[in-house]
Amino acid sequence: MHNLVLTGFMAVGKTTVGRIVARQLGRPFVDMATEIARRAGKSISHIFDVAGEAAFRRLEAAVCAELAGREGWVIATGGGALMDANNRACLMDSNTVVCLTATPKAVLQRVQSDLNDNGVERPLLAIPDPQAEIARLWDARREMYASVPWQVDTSDRSVEEVAAEVARLADVVTISVQHSEGVYPYHIGEGILKYIGGVLRSAGAPTGSRVAVVSNPVVAPLYVGEVEASLRRSGFYPVICTVPDGEAYKTLETVRSLYDQFLAGGLDRSSTVIAVGGGVTGDLAGFAAATFMRGVRFAQVPTSLLAMVDAAIGGKTGVDLPQGKNLVGAFWQPASVLADSTVLKTLPVEEWRSGMAEMLKHGVIGDAALFSALATGRYPSSQEIERAVRVKVSVVAKDPSETGRRMVLNLGHTVGHALERLSRYSLRHGEAVGIGMLAAARIAAAVGLADSSLSGQIEAALDACGLPYRCPPFPVEAIWEAMTHDKKRQGATLRWVLPHAIGEVAIVEEVPPKVVRSVLAEIGGVDEGV
Ligand SMILES: NC(=O)c1ccc[n+]([C@@H]2O[C@H](COP(=O)([O-])OP(=O)(O)OC[C@H]3O[C@@H](n4cnc5c(N)ncnc54)[C@H](O)[C@@H]3O)[C@@H](O)[C@H]2O)c1
Repeated sequence: MHNLVLTGFMAVGKTTVGRIVARQLGRPFVDMATEIARRAGKSISHIFDVAGEAAFRRLEAAVCAELAGREGWVIATGGGALMDANNRACLMDSNTVVCLTATPKAVLQRVQSDLNDNGVERPLLAIPDPQAEIARLWDARREMYASVPWQVDTSDRSVEEVAAEVARLADVVTISVQHSEGVYPYHIGEGILKYIGGVLRSAGAPTGSRVAVVSNPVVAPLYVGEVEASLRRSGFYPVICTVPDGEAYKTLETVRSLYDQFLAGGLDRSSTVIAVGGGVTGDLAGFAAATFMRGVRFAQVPTSLLAMVDAAIGGKTGVDLPQGKNLVGAFWQPASVLADSTVLKTLPVEEWRSGMAEMLKHGVIGDAALFSALATGRYPSSQEIERAVRVKVSVVAKDPSETGRRMVLNLGHTVGHALERLSRYSLRHGEAVGIGMLAAARIAAAVGLADSSLSGQIEAALDACGLPYRCPPFPVEAIWEAMTHDKKRQGATLRWVLPHAIGEVAIVEEVPPKVVRSVLAEIGGVDEGV
């Protein structure tokens, strides 16, 4: 279990709040200053007076390194501890770090009452003009505090209120997603939408810049208000942009309308685009971000299950053409992804199912235990959503630009995309992928790569999740034509992702067309004997 680390300026309540949070969560607590004093066998003031600040910082670094190696602790840091890059690396890498904030006025009042009444040690303020020193330290540390995504305001609030908010952040998980140019954080947790402003600042968006919030008329009334308020609190200027709802609008015309909205809202090269919605919104907003002014910062707030476990990871953005899905696009990595699992409560049941199909797919690709858990058909827990995210993240990290292994994520897509298109997108993406996955398992059995029981397992799981496992009665030739159309134009052959077993897949170059046609007929396609 990762540690919960509290940081922030002096007198924001790190120790008091940390102690309460630890008690609430039943976790051990350590206050870094107390630990340093205990090890040195001297008070902090004594260390500052006799050995100087540099000696104190050395002791602090040693304690940081040791505490970072612990698990499940609540740690209150010294106010300046994270100014040091090594300390930051130790404590921020795999722990949840929360920054407590307060207005400078509140800080000054608390510091004064600490100094006058409470006997709290503040060696940095043991000088003639503490107020000027507070202002100087505040300026020097402001940027470092802003690099922490989880900002909790303590002004005019009781310590109990603050502690309750911090405790809720303890379960947030941050997964690092590697790509060819670097790494970005994928944050997943409950009730974290209201932190999007801090998350964006920690991802490098400059305060005072414009942020285009792209959403649709279904999702916007539910969640854009909270996003907008958080952005304003963090000093951004939100520009609310709308795209129509539905795959039918994942087009260049919609991207064009986004450019118009970006320009009307005054976006420039320092601006950020955030997608708040399902995979369609993410693909559209991502492509617009990749191309507007040759590329601006992008962030994702996926609100559908499918977008959380699939579309928001890996940097693929794009639009459909009348000739096929996702035919125009770009790789454009987000600066950050924030997935708040509580937004799924408003997701229509059929969209849950569609997301379940992608989760099952991730189980088949690389997590047999996840597949078994999901095959019961119940709604997934937050931990299971996180596991599905991890499957995609690990595949993408090995092949960010999809030249090899990443193709395994296309399990079920060869047939699935064809069915989506033939249904004129009345079949949802996940539903189509589920049927496609079943077709792949049957093909694998037909060519001797898998046991025939495998397709039975997949069919039973799809059924338990309320997903279709029969293909609509489209002519087999029409499905074949839809699958091979784009490949023929590119002079390429169809490559298949076929499961060997649950948790193991392989890429196969050639499957005899006869086998594919026969499987399509078995699962519901109409063989007109052409
Ligand atoms: N870029 C990628 O790597 C990638 C991967 C997989 C899929 N995709 C794309 O994703 C798209 C499918 O994504 P999708 O299934 O999220 O479809 P979607 O974006 O159309 O969302 C499904 C529906 O749910 C609504 N919705 C979303 N979140 C909601 C919420 N919290 N409450 C209420 N309603 C909500 C949407 O408005 C929409 O009506 C396809 O276009 C597919 O090609 C992209």
